[in-house]
Amino acid sequence: MLILGFESSCDETGAAIVCDGRDVLSNVIASQDDLHVEYGGVVPEIASRAHVDRVLPVVRKALNEAGVGLADIDAVAVGNRPGLIGSLLVGVAAAKALAWSLGKPLIGIDHVHAHLYACSLDRDPPQFPALGLVVSGGHTSLYRLESWLKMRRLGATIDDAIGEAYDKVATILGLEYPGGPKLDKLAQSGDDRAHEFPVSLLEPGSLDFSYSGLKTAVLYAVRGKPVRDGKDVRFERDHADLSESEKADLAASFQLAAVAAVLKKVERALENTATGGTGACRSLLVGGGVSANSRLRAELPTLADNFDLDLRLPPMRYCLDNAAMIAGLAHEKLNAGDVDDLSLQAVPTTAC
Ligand code: KG4
Ligand code: ZN
Repeated sequence: MLILGFESSCDETGAAIVCDGRDVLSNVIASQDDLHVEYGGVVPEIASRAHVDRVLPVVRKALNEAGVGLADIDAVAVGNRPGLIGSLLVGVAAAKALAWSLGKPLIGIDHVHAHLYACSLDRDPPQFPALGLVVSGGHTSLYRLESWLKMRRLGATIDDAIGEAYDKVATILGLEYPGGPKLDKLAQSGDDRAHEFPVSLLEPGSLDFSYSGLKTAVLYAVRGKPVRDGKDVRFERDHADLSESEKADLAASFQLAAVAAVLKKVERALENTATGGTGACRSLLVGGGVSANSRLRAELPTLADNFDLDLRLPPMRYCLDNAAMIAGLAHEKLNAGDVDDLSLQAVPTTAC
C-alpha cells in the first residue's frame, strides 16, 4: 500500500511516498529558511506563496526518488491541521486535486500527532500504551496513546512552545534564524551552571508547560535591566557586548532549564497512575523539531530506563517537519477506514 503524503503546515514544503506505513521510499523537503532569515522568523504570506511554487516540483521529485508513478499511489494524505492557514491551504488543495484526479482516498492528518509517528518510520511499531512527547516550534505537548489513532492530550504549553523559546533566545543571543540548532551547538561549549534560570513546573501535578518566563529571564541576563525612555524601553547592553564564552554560558544555562522542564513533566506524567501508570506505559515516543536537541537526546534514555520504557526517538531526518510522518500515520487511518472527502478543511488550531 503506497501513500503519497503532503506537508505544508509552516515553512517546509514536503512530499513523501511511504509503503505500508513503515518503509519510506522517498521523503523530499524544500526548506524556506533562506526566504525568512532576513526577517528573523517565518513570514506567513511569504511561506504560503513559496509553497505554491514548490509543491509540484517536490511531488515530482518524491515520485522519481521512490521510482513510482502516480498510478501506483493508493491514497493521498495531507497534514491539514494545525499550522499557518495560508500554508496549510496549499497542501490541502494540492492533495485534494490529486486524490480527486486519481480517484483515490484522501486522508487528513493532524501534524502534531504525525510528529509522534515519525519514531515508527523505517522500523517496527512501538508497544502501546505509550506516553507521547511532542517538542516542536509550535507545540510542547504530552499525550497518552492507547494506539496510533487513540491519543489523549495530557498537557500543553500555556504560552511559548519550547522550539519557539529556542528560536527567540537564539535571536536574543544574536544567532541567525532558525536559531534552535545553532543555540544547541553553542550550548555545548558553555557552562550550564553559569546562570540559574527558572525551570517552569507550574502548579504541583500540572502537565502543562510554560516557556515565556525562561525566555524573559535570558533576555534580562543578556541585556540588563530595561529602562523606560519616554515611550521606548531601552536596555543596558545587547548580545554584541558579550564575549563568545559568555554567550555559550547563557545558551548552556538556558538549555539546562528548558530541557529540565520537559524531563520533569514526562516524569510527572509517568508517576501519575491516571496518565502514565507506572508499568502501564510500555513506550516513550518523542517527536518534533526539538527532539533533535543534543541535551534532550542525551538525557531521555536514563529517564526511560528508570521507568522501564522503550524510548523511541526519531532519527534526525524525521525530527523536523516532513511528509513521511504524514503518509505513515495516514496508513493507520486508511486501515481503520477513516478517510476524508473533498470537504476536508485546513484548520489552523490544534484539536487535542
Ligand atoms: O517540528 P518542527 O520542524 O516545526 C514545528 O512543527 O513547529 O520544529 C521546528 C523547531 C524550531 O523551533 C527549531 O529551532 C527547533 O525545532 N529545533 C531545535 C533543534 N533543531 C530544531 N531546537 C533545539 N535544538 C535543536 N537541535
Ligand atoms: Zn512540526
